[in-house]
Order: sequence, then C-alpha cells, then structure tokens
Amino acid sequence: MTAPQKKNTLLYNIIFVVVGGALLLFLLRAPEESTARMPYNDDHERFYSMAKKEAEKFCESCHNPEGDVPLAPDHPPKYRCLFCHKKVER
Ligand code: HEC
Ligand code: HEC
Repeated sequence: MTAPQKKNTLLYNIIFVVVGGALLLFLLRAPEESTARMPYNDDHERFYSMAKKEAEKFCESCHNPEGDVPLAPDHPPKYRCLFCHKKVER
C-alpha cells in the first residue's frame, strides 16, 4: 500500500518545483522600479543609517507644501516614503 502514496508525493514535489520555478522567473523578469530613489547627498545622507520608520519622520520637514521641495499635488498617498523611494545602492 505504500507504492501509490510514494508516486503521489513525487508528483506533488514536481508540481512544487515547477510552480516555484515559474514564480521565480516571473519575479526576476518584473520591470525595474521607476520611482525616484532617495538621493545620497548632504540632505539625505543621515537617513541611510536610520531605520526607515525613524527616517520618515523627517522627510516632511523639507518635503512639505511650504518647504524647499514640495511634493506634487498629484503625488500618491505619502505615508511610508521609503517604501516607494528606495535608498540608492552604494
Ligand atoms: C534637509 C531637507 C530634506 C530632507 C529632511 C529630506 N529631503 Fe529629500 N530632497 C531635498 C532636496 C533639496 C531635494 C532636491 C535636490 C536633491 O536631489 O537633493 C530632495 C529630493 C528628494 C527626492 C527626489 C530625488 C529625485 O531624483 O528627483 C526624493 C525621492 C527625496 N528627496 C526623498 C526624501 C525622503 C524619503 C526623505 C526622508 C527620509 C527626505 N527626502 C528628506 C531635501 C530634503
Ligand atoms: C505610494 C508610493 C509613494 C510614497 C509612499 C511616497 N512617494 Fe514620493 N513619489 C512617488 C511617485 C510615483 C512619484 C512621481 C514619480 C517619480 O518618482 O518621479 C513621487 C515623487 C516624489 C518626489 C519628486 C521626485 C521627482 O523627481 O520629481 C519627491 C521629492 C517625493 N516623491 C518625496 C516623497 C516623500 C518625502 C514621501 C513621504 C512623505 C513620499 N514621497 C512618499 C511615490 C511615492
């Protein structure tokens, strides 16, 4: 009675590998993100060593409607800046 069960297990393993492989391929082929990254410069350097949530408290001190670099009126919902604006690779 063990033989049929073994066959089933093999089948499931194969399905698992094929589905996993397809998913991986899909993710690897996804287009590169186009949202502007947070620059690495004097204004932003200090945020690179901070936890994201910590850093995000400071963004709007400059990026606010009266600030130096206001966000566009049609800017997407803006909590969690660093979810969309990733740090640049260094
Ligand atoms: C001290 C002021 C200041 C703070 C604080 C600040 N920024 Fe900026 N940011 C600027 C200025 C000035 C520019 C435009 C010039 C530049 O590219 O640096 C800018 C530009 C940007 C840009 C656009 C880059 C591009 O390629 O157009 C992004 C994205 C950005 N900031 C994200 C953030 C995020 C996220 C935070 C919080 C973690 C943050 N900024 C905090 C001053 C600031
Ligand atoms: C849901 C995703 C998302 C979140 C969250 C978000 N942004 Fe953006 N942001 C965008 C998109 C999309 C654009 C316009 C396309 C681009 O990146 O140039 C943009 C544009 C900007 C720009 C102008 C960049 C340029 O080159 O024109 C700045 C500065 C900016 N965002 C700062 C912030 C800050 C600061 C926060 C947090 C308070 C924030 N963003 C949160 C998606 C997001």
